[in-house]
Amino acid sequence: MDLSASLLDIRFANPLLNASGVWCRYNEELDGLRDSAAGSFITKSCTLATRAGNPEPRYYATPLGSINSMGLPNEGYTYYLDYARAYDYAKKPLFMSVAGLSLEDNLAMLAAIRDAGLPAVVELNLSCPNVPGKPQIAYDFAAMDRMLEATSREYGRPFGVKMPPYFDIAHFDEAAAILNKYPLVAFITCINSIGNALVIDIEQESVVIKPKDGFGGIGGDYVLPTALANVNAFFRRCPQKQVIGCGGVKTGEHVFMHLLAGASLVQVGTALQEEGPGIFARLNGELAALLERKGYTSIEAVLGKLKTL
Ligand code: SIN
Repeated sequence: MDLSASLLDIRFANPLLNASGVWCRYNEELDGLRDSAAGSFITKSCTLATRAGNPEPRYYATPLGSINSMGLPNEGYTYYLDYARAYDYAKKPLFMSVAGLSLEDNLAMLAAIRDAGLPAVVELNLSCPNVPGKPQIAYDFAAMDRMLEATSREYGRPFGVKMPPYFDIAHFDEAAAILNKYPLVAFITCINSIGNALVIDIEQESVVIKPKDGFGGIGGDYVLPTALANVNAFFRRCPQKQVIGCGGVKTGEHVFMHLLAGASLVQVGTALQEEGPGIFARLNGELAALLERKGYTSIEAVLGKLKTL
């Protein structure tokens, strides 16, 4: 079975990678992804300076997924740039996630990444819901437009954007129209966690994570249909761009659904956190078996082929 995939004219052995934030803060974790069956991998969303993130507990798994309010704990962008500089790109492609706390921070980090002249691909995170006092940029369309205009001008290379989920057709239309203004926005990753949810422990009569009075982004089973809708909405509206699916993937069947909806690559978050990097071999095996049962010989034939009634 040919599981190979393509994004930005780069070939990938298979469509799977981690969602930024999971298994990618430290070099040892990144090496674990490098050595796994994932087709590529991405670094933790970085800021200009090192951040400890929000107080713990800040991640909690439930039977249906997870809630987190990590608050962008990361080692600072130079740590990930050093990793990207030392990395052997013959192994598999590498993405770098960038999540500056301001436009200026993003431009400074992107200039350094650009000047390094590496094959690493940037995913600009416009959707972290967990930094107190910093609203998600992609929920402020004017701010998103300014960010993309400045990033396109200063960075000057193709890049991707990590989007939050939208829940209204008017918002899909408006967000897509802004993204379509910028040809250097080459891919759209849908979705980040559904932000500011609340999980309650009945016995303790309490929230389950400490930051923000228990409010946090949810992932896992809770978000699969929302993720698929966002992948398909942007796939339909942005024909010159590619989409990376993220949300609710824990089986090969879920990967297949993301491909049908229009995803060129598929990220794994909560399920990777719970199962570890061995999950990628399992997902590839399940995807290959499903494709074979359905008579496909490659994933290219599935991409975006979702039927409507
Ligand atoms: C976090 O560090 O809070 C998660 C990052 C994100 O959701 O973008």
